[in-house]
Amino acid sequence: MEELKNKAIEVLKGNWKDEVGFSIPCANLYPFQWFWDSGLIAIGFSHFDMPKAEAEIETLLDAQWGNGFIPHIIFHTESDTYFPGPDFHRSDLHPLSSKKYKSTGMTQPPVTGFVLEELYRISTDKKATLKFLETVIDKVYFNHEYFYKNRDPQNEGLVYIYHNWESGTDNSPIWDDIWETMNPPEYTFERRDTTHVDAAERPSKREYDHYLYIIDIAKEHNYSDEKIAELSPFLVQDPLFNAMLIKSNESLIKLYELIGNNADKIAQLKKWQEKSIQSFNNKLFDDEIGAYIHYDLRNEKPLRYLSSSSFSPLFANIPSKERAASMVNVMMDKFGGEHQYLCASFDPTSERFNPKKYWRGPVWINLNWMLYNGLKQYGFLDIANRVKQDSIEIIEKNGFYEYFDSRKDMHNHGKAGYGGNNFSWSAALIVDLLNE
Ligand code: GLC
Repeated sequence: MEELKNKAIEVLKGNWKDEVGFSIPCANLYPFQWFWDSGLIAIGFSHFDMPKAEAEIETLLDAQWGNGFIPHIIFHTESDTYFPGPDFHRSDLHPLSSKKYKSTGMTQPPVTGFVLEELYRISTDKKATLKFLETVIDKVYFNHEYFYKNRDPQNEGLVYIYHNWESGTDNSPIWDDIWETMNPPEYTFERRDTTHVDAAERPSKREYDHYLYIIDIAKEHNYSDEKIAELSPFLVQDPLFNAMLIKSNESLIKLYELIGNNADKIAQLKKWQEKSIQSFNNKLFDDEIGAYIHYDLRNEKPLRYLSSSSFSPLFANIPSKERAASMVNVMMDKFGGEHQYLCASFDPTSERFNPKKYWRGPVWINLNWMLYNGLKQYGFLDIANRVKQDSIEIIEKNGFYEYFDSRKDMHNHGKAGYGGNNFSWSAALIVDLLNE
């Protein structure tokens, strides 16, 4: 295991950009800084190089907008290996966007709060780490305030995403239902992702038309949150995204208590937390499916599909013990067969399942890491260990890929790791799992 850990550390060192102080998710395919990648990468670094972990977070937060928003991609460098780049996204259209960095005008799952707590947990010099946390924590709080003020039009404690790229699970079959409600124009553009990765593992041209069209609508209104809430054809309450926010709320409360002197913020976080958890349990749990699902706020209807996101609330302490137990049964029944690695990103019993294609079935290490920690927290130690062992095994067999075939027999002949290779969060989270 020492050898695997050293290899993971090499991957992280290779993707680190010293001039600016951040990590790319992987070369060629993703040449900039991504929001939730950075957070998860910092967890990996904190085990062997705390200054880099801190710099990763500082650089990310340096790109925060004047309204608390944190963008999903920060374009630190010029690169023509990626489409759509800064000239398409035009973050400058928003009056409060960063003057220092070009970015997208959309965000990603808010992992930063719980990442700060992880840094503190892993730190061997708690005093120094707490000092660092004091310099950044208010920015994370401000980001949560942005979400509750601007992304919750019905005041439910649940925030929406307006683009599939905000979800982090970019090409999930769940979005197919939304695409069916839209008819975007045909765009002319040159894809870059399919020059780096097999097209069979990536979204189609027509899917990209939808992605670009939603951005165009937002740009027409200078990325105004109000207008987006009113007009975007994509407006979804996503259980993974909201679970990340709730988990991060919990961490901010704990960290502010450690720091002291922040009673107002703690009180506000507790208010958000109570309301969010209640609505999450009432609105996003589907009794018949036996797990959490997405809700389409634009068309006011539940999106009744099982995915690895359905189980992510375990990580954020959202379900009761009884509910957690029944969710785990559903997970083992549908995703945990002996021929499957845990945990496929989409329901393996569904017609829409595709174990090779980007978020339509493959196993992802970040979701596994959350699941592992969530299962452990609720006392499902055997299943948690299986998630951990499966994660280690697929990486040992294939390398640090972006995603992996969930079918075990595919790993016996040839490549079963897909997307980018030497992928940062796969490496970072394996370092964390191996350091336990
Ligand atoms: C893909 C993933 C997204 C991730 C990005 C960079 O777009 O879907 O979650 O942040 O790659 O790794």
